[in-house]
Amino acid sequence: MPSRTGFPDHFLWGVATSAYQIEGSPLADGASPSIWHRFSHTPGATHGGDTGDVACDHYRRYREDVALMRDLGIPAYRFSLSWGRLLRDGRGPANPPGLDFYSRLIDLLLAAGIRPMVTLCHWDLPAALDDLGGWRHRDSIDWFADYAELAFRAYGDRVDLWATFNEPWMMSDAGYLKGLHAPGHRDPGEAVRAAHHLLCAHGAAVERFRAGPGGAIGLVVNLEPKHPATDAAADAAAAARAGAYMNRHYLDPLFLGHYPEELPAMFGDAWPRWEIEDFARIRQPIDFLGVNYYSRGIVRDDPASPPARARSILPEHAPRTAMGWEIHPDGLREILEWVKARYGDLPLYVTENGAAFDDPPAGLGGPIEDAPRVEYLRDHLSATRTALANGVDVRGYFAWSLLDNFEWQYGYAKRFGLVHVDFTTQRRTPKRSALFYRDVIRSHGGAIGPNPAAGTVSGSGPHSRGACAP
Ligand code: FCB
Repeated sequence: MPSRTGFPDHFLWGVATSAYQIEGSPLADGASPSIWHRFSHTPGATHGGDTGDVACDHYRRYREDVALMRDLGIPAYRFSLSWGRLLRDGRGPANPPGLDFYSRLIDLLLAAGIRPMVTLCHWDLPAALDDLGGWRHRDSIDWFADYAELAFRAYGDRVDLWATFNEPWMMSDAGYLKGLHAPGHRDPGEAVRAAHHLLCAHGAAVERFRAGPGGAIGLVVNLEPKHPATDAAADAAAAARAGAYMNRHYLDPLFLGHYPEELPAMFGDAWPRWEIEDFARIRQPIDFLGVNYYSRGIVRDDPASPPARARSILPEHAPRTAMGWEIHPDGLREILEWVKARYGDLPLYVTENGAAFDDPPAGLGGPIEDAPRVEYLRDHLSATRTALANGVDVRGYFAWSLLDNFEWQYGYAKRFGLVHVDFTTQRRTPKRSALFYRDVIRSHGGAIGPNPAAGTVSGSGPHSRGACAP
């Protein structure tokens, strides 16, 4: 039941991070390097040659970071495991010191009253497995399932919320098609194979999970509503293709057992014949879907933009973040409602949402006044509340990110943290947004502002448009 503020009693408030972005010490205690270690050390791959070698030094400062969350009253923490810390070379014998690091982290979180949500793979595949073919290789399904099982055995007694992958679309599109992320390839055939193996690996890990200690497991995807730039039929078709490529590419097989019909034509000869049995595996029932939302896509037909022959544009005066992403909170409501309309009534978590801005410097002793980030959070939390009022089963919200961190190819130039990190001294300073979020949590959503749905009986909110087609 939604409470007066619009959020159900058990709504889970959290913050999110990922291993390579915050930990540093990538080779400590017997850990093996990941594809991101290798990629970030490749000249020209990241802004200013930045790497995750030190990042937020969380590997050594995790106690301080847990205390920070406790002091802010954060009830849940989504973080990822570094596969290469647990398994030297990604497979074979476990690496006890690496296993122990996360064990200590989990114990500390629980002692601080913080519920862990663990992502098994947030992009940092061990480099040794990339040498064997990485996600292009069908064996990656078993490599991942074995690694997942090790993690379930090690932490399943204390962790009850698990995600297999973070954003398989980014892993395939940025990693294997556009070459912007590790492993830096540019090959459509590799991209669709990697995507398929990620989906199969997800299913294989879910199978292993069902034989383990219990709890909930899901997949985290990044979704964007795709809106045509004009009324032209060509733009409408382009928006549909863009949605098929980014959103339905992953969710149709997961919930419907097949790929969207647009994809074979989009990829032509690069589209393989799939093993039909794979789809039963991919379609294993999951306990929740994690949705990462940052922006929408305004799409124009463009034959020169493969694979969807679609290009995203941004009107000149559209409000945007420091990433250049349009600020469009209603897109979060829209995409949550779309998931329910297309795939059914399943538990959803907003597993990432947040924004980079060029924050002002710290004031004299006071917090950093990041008003645009406060507004971004407020508006997206409000959109989440509208989706709840419209009947979507949203179980929680995780702000991206607890800390300013290594933002992939942008290095340290883009700051998403609720807490500022001085990368010279490693000093953490909560920004105004951290204090705002603390108040939101304390008031169970009350600090967001008036709840327009309070007191109404009907479940349909002001923007309900039913089944759209992102
Ligand atoms: C998401 C990633 C996350 C972070 C945010 C800004 O796509 O999952 O690691 O980079 O974008």
